[in-house]
Amino acid sequence: MADKPFLTDVKTLRERARRHIENGAVTEGYSADLETAVKLLNEALATEIVCVLRYKRHYFMATGIAAESVAAEFLQHANEEQGHADSIAQRIVQLKGEPDFNPEGLLMRSHAEYVEGNSLTDMIKEDLVAERIAIDSYREMITYFGNDDPTSRRLLEGILAVEEEHADDLVSMLEKMS
Ligand SMILES: [Fe+2]
Ligand SMILES: [Fe+2]
Repeated sequence: MADKPFLTDVKTLRERARRHIENGAVTEGYSADLETAVKLLNEALATEIVCVLRYKRHYFMATGIAAESVAAEFLQHANEEQGHADSIAQRIVQLKGEPDFNPEGLLMRSHAEYVEGNSLTDMIKEDLVAERIAIDSYREMITYFGNDDPTSRRLLEGILAVEEEHADDLVSMLEKMS
């Protein structure tokens, strides 16, 4: 809009900030749709929780078949996914939403799947598939948030970079196995 100044004047900014202070970090300038933002972040949260569960299962099963280095990698990924889940839940609360930890419907909300896998190779392949799903869905969420919610966008960009590292690790593990 050409007739609109690029920056809001200080007086208006100050007045706006005083209204609805109970909304905390959510100011009048927040331009994403809050309900959609919370819904997307809850889907990301479910994805992370399912990934924690799957990696934990794989960690304990791989430990059982004496594949120590692979097991250690699974555990590291599980812990990192837990960190992602926590950051996402924290962001949801900041946006005045409620993080959904309900086990009922968890798999429906998650984009990634929970596949146990029979062999070590199966486990690694399933984890790789899950990472690739997460990578694509986070990339889409990042585009959605764009400039409307740069904080959620940056959070997901950081997580996306780690999921890409995870996928890369898993490919290297598969190569070593064959
Ligand atoms: Fe993650
Ligand atoms: Fe990951």
